[in-house]
Amino acid sequence: MSKKIIILGGLGNGSVIANAIVDANKRGFDEWEFVGYLNDRQEKDSLIEGFQVLGKTIDASKFIKKGFYFINTIYRIDGQQERIELFESLKIPDSSLVIFIHPMTYVASNVKLSHGTVVMPNASISSGTSFGKCCLVMVGATIGHNNKIENYCHFAAQCCTSAYLNISDGVHVGLNATVRENLEIGKNSALGMGSVLLENIGENEIWAGNPAKFIRKVK
Ligand SMILES: CC(C)(COP(=O)(O)OP(=O)(O)OC[C@H]1O[C@@H](n2cnc3c(N)ncnc32)[C@H](O)[C@@H]1OP(=O)(O)O)[C@@H](O)C(=O)NCCC(=O)NCCS
Repeated sequence: MSKKIIILGGLGNGSVIANAIVDANKRGFDEWEFVGYLNDRQEKDSLIEGFQVLGKTIDASKFIKKGFYFINTIYRIDGQQERIELFESLKIPDSSLVIFIHPMTYVASNVKLSHGTVVMPNASISSGTSFGKCCLVMVGATIGHNNKIENYCHFAAQCCTSAYLNISDGVHVGLNATVRENLEIGKNSALGMGSVLLENIGENEIWAGNPAKFIRKVK
């Protein structure tokens, strides 16, 4: 029987992941079934691209008891810490967080993926890399080898990271950004779209450009 998945979130990360689950089903992979969203901004029973809003995030406990599974997609560059705290306050057990790997991906056999992590179509993850919980590897992202990636990180479409990186909780790597090897990116920091990162980033910092420079602290 397929795992019934509820996505925390909505239009954006949530809806693109929902549609990737539907696409996997069409390709004959039926381990998962997307059933709807928990969303704090839209009314219960309203629709997001044809899928139902089942309630607010606070309603998660009700669905945990009924045996549903979850993916968290509520991430934002400014305010990431608050969003992580919101998610953690829901106390969704790891066993109720699915790992969704779209069938059109390359994930090396010794990669470690933790609960709630998503790997979207055309993404690739090279050998020896590990992820903490609830990381999102979006369409076409290329994650290199032997990286240590912690929890709640977001790798936007087409970004490219090299090797031996230490990436802390809540980091955002922007669309089509590139990260040189052997670097550290601190908690809740972000690298802007199209950037080329050559230096370590501290905590709660936004960097962008080629070569990437410090832009500001996160709000
Ligand atoms: C880096 C980022 C967070 C900055 O956003 P912001 O704080 O609103 O920044 P602003 O647009 O006010 O720009 C501030 C300065 O940074 C520069 N800048 C912003 N983003 C940049 C980028 N990606 N590359 C180079 N320079 C950038 C701007 O040109 C501006 O420079 P100036 O002060 O000399 O005029 C944002 O531009 C970005 O890249 N977000 C990530 C997008 C992404 O990955 N989306 C994926 C969604 S799934």
